[in-house]
Amino acid sequence: MDTTPLDLDPYLFEILSQANHIVALTGAGVSAESGIPTFRGEEGIWKKLKPQELASMKGFLKNPDRVTEWYQHRRDIIDKVKPNPGHIALAEMEKEFRNVTVITQNVDGLHQQAGSSNVIELHGNIYRNYCIDCGKRYDYGQMKKSEGVPVCDECGGYIRPDVVWFGESLPMAAFNEAERSAAAADVMFSVGTSAEVYPAAGLPRTAKAHNAYLVEINPQHTDISLIADDSIRKPSGEALPKILKQYLEWKKTSTD
Ligand code: OAD
Repeated sequence: MDTTPLDLDPYLFEILSQANHIVALTGAGVSAESGIPTFRGEEGIWKKLKPQELASMKGFLKNPDRVTEWYQHRRDIIDKVKPNPGHIALAEMEKEFRNVTVITQNVDGLHQQAGSSNVIELHGNIYRNYCIDCGKRYDYGQMKKSEGVPVCDECGGYIRPDVVWFGESLPMAAFNEAERSAAAADVMFSVGTSAEVYPAAGLPRTAKAHNAYLVEINPQHTDISLIADDSIRKPSGEALPKILKQYLEWKKTSTD
């Protein structure tokens, strides 16, 4: 890995040192270095597969076996991977800063695995499931035993993953908490998200409107780049550990 320090504005360190609340909004890019494909871009899932067929209620009702199989395929990928240095650096920030909130669009649970204790899942979690008719909840173990689309043992309805599909609302409590956190953020990191899917993509704007210092971490330009105070064009598995390391070095020299 490239060990060259990032060219960071020391003002970021000043703000971090006084911050009450640090928030990271994360997307598929933060898990890319763990081996989970992103949705958009040249290698993205939505280049080859149609979201309306695999990630909508209409698509599920049309072909429940196929959608179930696809989610099981994604769980099989996630089962085999580990949090990467980006997830770990975000978890380690909790040791250094007062309040750290991770708002994620990812459904893979890798932030929690890395040790982050305050994670808001905006798009659900791929390991949780529920019956589309009676709402009964099912865990992953029960799902794994099934062949084809699993059905509810209470009412016979189809069981689907507890993820947010296109055309569906975000879980209201999670989104309200995310908005409150974004508004309270002194520093927001927008990490590995194309910021194309709303309402999650509006959160950096909310943070900015409430005077947060906004840092984007993404190898590519996004709409967030236009409003960010700093854009770090590096993979998050490299950038986040360097930000933390450089901050700790700055703190040491500024208190020596
Ligand atoms: P996208 O796939 O839209 O965007 C991933 C972003 O990560 C892109 O901007 C990449 O440039 C960037 N990226 C790739 N590798 C990276 C790395 N190593 N480090 C940092 N950034 C990297 O993913 P999301 O923004 O999360 O929703 O997509 C939002 C939602 O759209 C997803 O939650 C999903 C999808 O359809 C649903 O399924 C409802």
